[in-house]
Amino acid sequence: MLNCLVTGAAGFIGSHLVDRLLEMGHHVVGVDNLVLGKMVNLEHASHSGNFIFQKLDVNDYPGCLEFLRLRHFEKPFDLVWHLAANSDIQAGGANPDIDMQLTFLTTFNLLKMMQALKIPRLAFASTSAIYGAHPGAVVEETGPLLPISNYGAMKLASEAAISAACERFLQVCWIFRFPNVVGSRATHGAIYDPDELEVLGDGTQEKPYLHVGELIEAMIFIQQQSKEKRNLFNISPVETVSTVRYLAEKVIELAAPDARIRYTGGDRGWIGDVPKFRYSVRKLENLGWAPKLTSNQAVDLAVQENLGILKS
Ligand SMILES: NC(=O)c1ccc[n+]([C@@H]2O[C@H](COP(=O)([O-])OP(=O)(O)OC[C@H]3O[C@@H](n4cnc5c(N)ncnc54)[C@H](O)[C@@H]3O)[C@@H](O)[C@H]2O)c1
Repeated sequence: MLNCLVTGAAGFIGSHLVDRLLEMGHHVVGVDNLVLGKMVNLEHASHSGNFIFQKLDVNDYPGCLEFLRLRHFEKPFDLVWHLAANSDIQAGGANPDIDMQLTFLTTFNLLKMMQALKIPRLAFASTSAIYGAHPGAVVEETGPLLPISNYGAMKLASEAAISAACERFLQVCWIFRFPNVVGSRATHGAIYDPDELEVLGDGTQEKPYLHVGELIEAMIFIQQQSKEKRNLFNISPVETVSTVRYLAEKVIELAAPDARIRYTGGDRGWIGDVPKFRYSVRKLENLGWAPKLTSNQAVDLAVQENLGILKS
């Protein structure tokens, strides 16, 4: 069984990952500064004797290093899952310091701590936003990588810092480029706000949506099966996308049939939004894993799961 550190543990995806790792019998130390994460997301994990949570800012280098040193001394960390970041892309567009601090410096500081403590393995939550706007389905080798959001730029910088760390001290890294992820416990984003029927853009944006349960399955599968020094994977539903209009209409249909949708107009939701986006997941399929849900099915399931919140 592994001893894992999860950063961003109280967030949407981090908390699902924590639950799954505990279910697999691993020991998990979770840290989160709770800027976006919520303790309620860790309600399930808190009942496990194999879970420790600490409210910590990964950018508090001395404080975080001290905490990790003590834990590492008690039981050495085998693997770090780094999910702490700014997930509010629009906020990062308005104030670039946010992504510099929360998306890039968390990675940079974490790498320094991992080097100081000699922790050998890192799994990292990256994003489709590192590709920028590309016609056609992007593969892992697609380039040049010219992100159009600060968030994407700082994730790409994080990938670069992790790759360089593999030359110095990291034995192995796994970099997962997520699509849009949906499911319960979302702290932000498309289907979180119960009463918000305003849709940014004209609704024609098309993106792949993946259910968080399948995302976690894919991450764990890749971490276990892909044995390169640097392991880089797109994760997404296979060749399906959903329009933002589909998502909005599904929310209305199930949660508020009398409500109306108001589109703000324009072909993109915000500065840095990539309006139409497609992923190739051939590399992941060749490794032996593919999601079962289409993008629309993932959206349907996520809306169902969030009905309680959406109707409240
Ligand atoms: N949700 C998506 O659709 C999506 C898509 C692509 C990539 N990602 C990436 O996946 C990861 C998880 O995303 P999420 O959707 O769960 O977002 P989230 O906001 O729910 O989770 C991120 C967590 O990191 C924490 N955090 C931020 N800065 C921190 C710091 N300095 N120290 C400690 N904790 C800090 C936040 O409090 C939050 O709980 C992020 O790295 C995100 O960029 C998410």
